[in-house]
Amino acid sequence: MIQKYVYGKPFTTEAIIEEVTLGEGTPAYGCIETAQGFTFTYQMEADDIIYGLGEANRGLNKRGYCYISDCTDDPNHTEDKRSLYGAHNFIVVAGKKTFGLFFDYPSAITFDIGYTKADTLSVSCERADLNLFVIDGDSPYEIVKQFRKAIGLSYIPPKYAFGFGQSRWGYKTKEDFRKVVDGHRENKVPLDMVYMDIDYMQDFKDFTLNEKNFPDFPAFVQEMKDRNIRLIPIIDAGVKVEKGYDVYEEGVQNRYFCQREDGSDFVAAVWPGDTHFPDVLNDEARAWFGDKYRILTDQGIEGFWNDMNEPAIFYSQEGMGELKEVLKAFLENEDHNSGVTAGEMAAENGRKDGETGTKPKAGSSVWPLMGKLGSLANSRADYKRFYHNTKEGRVRHDQVHNLFGYYMTRSAGEAFERIDPDKRFLMFSRSSYIGMHRYGGIWTGDNKSWWSHILLNLKMLPSLNMCGFLYTGADLGGFGADATRDLLLRWLALGVFTPLMRDHAAQGTREQECYQFENIEDFRHVIGVRYRLIPYLYSEYMKAALNSDLYFKPMAFVYPEDAMAVQVEDQIMLGNEIMIAPVYTQNAKGRYVYLPEEMKFVKFLPDGTITEEVLEKGHHYVEIALNEVSFFIRSGKCIPVAEPAEYVEALDTEHMTMLGYEGAEYDLYEDDGVSKSYQKPEEYRKMKR
Ligand code: GLC
Repeated sequence: MIQKYVYGKPFTTEAIIEEVTLGEGTPAYGCIETAQGFTFTYQMEADDIIYGLGEANRGLNKRGYCYISDCTDDPNHTEDKRSLYGAHNFIVVAGKKTFGLFFDYPSAITFDIGYTKADTLSVSCERADLNLFVIDGDSPYEIVKQFRKAIGLSYIPPKYAFGFGQSRWGYKTKEDFRKVVDGHRENKVPLDMVYMDIDYMQDFKDFTLNEKNFPDFPAFVQEMKDRNIRLIPIIDAGVKVEKGYDVYEEGVQNRYFCQREDGSDFVAAVWPGDTHFPDVLNDEARAWFGDKYRILTDQGIEGFWNDMNEPAIFYSQEGMGELKEVLKAFLENEDHNSGVTAGEMAAENGRKDGETGTKPKAGSSVWPLMGKLGSLANSRADYKRFYHNTKEGRVRHDQVHNLFGYYMTRSAGEAFERIDPDKRFLMFSRSSYIGMHRYGGIWTGDNKSWWSHILLNLKMLPSLNMCGFLYTGADLGGFGADATRDLLLRWLALGVFTPLMRDHAAQGTREQECYQFENIEDFRHVIGVRYRLIPYLYSEYMKAALNSDLYFKPMAFVYPEDAMAVQVEDQIMLGNEIMIAPVYTQNAKGRYVYLPEEMKFVKFLPDGTITEEVLEKGHHYVEIALNEVSFFIRSGKCIPVAEPAEYVEALDTEHMTMLGYEGAEYDLYEDDGVSKSYQKPEEYRKMKR
């Protein structure tokens, strides 16, 4: 049962779309204070586990740290970070008392989960204007399913989006893209998508193409389609300020951009230099921006990724003005070595919002300048400098900050419905809020080529699913920093199982397309296994999406009675048949696993053969070589496996073999992969091992 408690005047986010009954009095759990902002506190039992928060740092059990839902463009996902790109305010307390909470509040909100006091869960935000949803149920899993039902069905991508995608920030010309396709096709490494990062645009202008590099774009899109490749362009949140650029001109004329308090269009510098943000929280502006995707769909494009939509701001004119003042004072002051106290230094370093501390003091050192420089990008002060014209009136951006990525992606999703209502478009976003899961997936942003990020990726997957984000994946191989061959192989072996499987890297880093490394057959094999599993993975994805269920589950949701399984965070359940336990340590030849029941350990060997070994319940060390892909099939279950194919459409699902337990049965979901005529359970194909 879900109950809604209303505090103050909440902004309507449309995260929850099911009718929910109003709770009477106060929630049955915790304590609420609204005298100064809003605070919910709850005394946790020693063994309570806290699930949820979707795209968040650290573990599956969120206990022991402090997280802030505050969509942030920060590419350094180190362990100390509290905010990433998404704001997913759903948690489940599992223990003596088990219940779910969704704080529907679109601005920064803090989840102190035993950080300040080990036994205290405290959720707080600045204004007491929010809807709090309290969910009762028999188990965490059951509570999650109720929540998922209330937020509406998750986005369903086209089937080709389960293929492998290659990306890199820096591909510029048709030749660059052809080289990527050749590199895969010539080496027989499967590939379905190549992503177009910002360089395809003319001067980073949304919905344009570089005129010199992409004459006759539709013919190029077709050339790629003839090779069974889809080009997937990026769309950024900021629209370049440039006289004569139609998107800019129309936006200005119709007042579709976010404005300052004085009514002028707010200017934020992003990749193109000065930009305006489309006011996606305004229905008309949102429809207008969404219709712009048509410029590219008319040329044959069928999928997009939305980026920089926290929205990221490198600097604003106001922020730059303040910096100049600080710089001037610094340059005018000849005594740069004197007089900054450790306290002042710390204060400058810790300052985030750029609002205060900008006044240079006589005798000050370089620190105020450094502090101002450091707080120039994505500053809270800037988020207070512009407004949205919503149905509920004019709202200052910082009060609805976490909705921008959601509504930008919604703008595209709603437009796709108009462009071709029966067609599925590929769409995923960087920033998100719960509700966006109905319009697209997410990728987890700018990670690094670090082993610890493979583990972070793995642990985040069930949490993302709990919040509705099923089509998701990380930049495989790592976005920033230089990838090594072994890291890429191990990360791909996890990516085999994530619905979005994409290798993406930043400009200036080591090239990390599979064909850049020695022994390319290892990559062919690992990605080949992905394709062999697509019929099963797609089937499980569709079952989860159509039933508001989880594609990835914590082991605790399947084996709640097993105290050991409940603690495991580096093995997760996929669908109803398998458990994955990837290797995430450099130079490891295998890893330890815990089996809560007897399972079949399956390994896809590089020579194309598959081994199956029954392992008893308990602890095991399993060997998994760099060029092997492995997982576990649960007792009494089986799954179908296809022959490898170079692209999704070439998969032969008529002739598949079954892996797993003799006599077991599997119901296969299958459809045309592009339309919205989804199969009903009675139409599923019955398969038997
Ligand atoms: C952002 C994106 C990244 C992209 C880059 C250039 O950092 O997160 O994926 O490559 O911008 O567009």
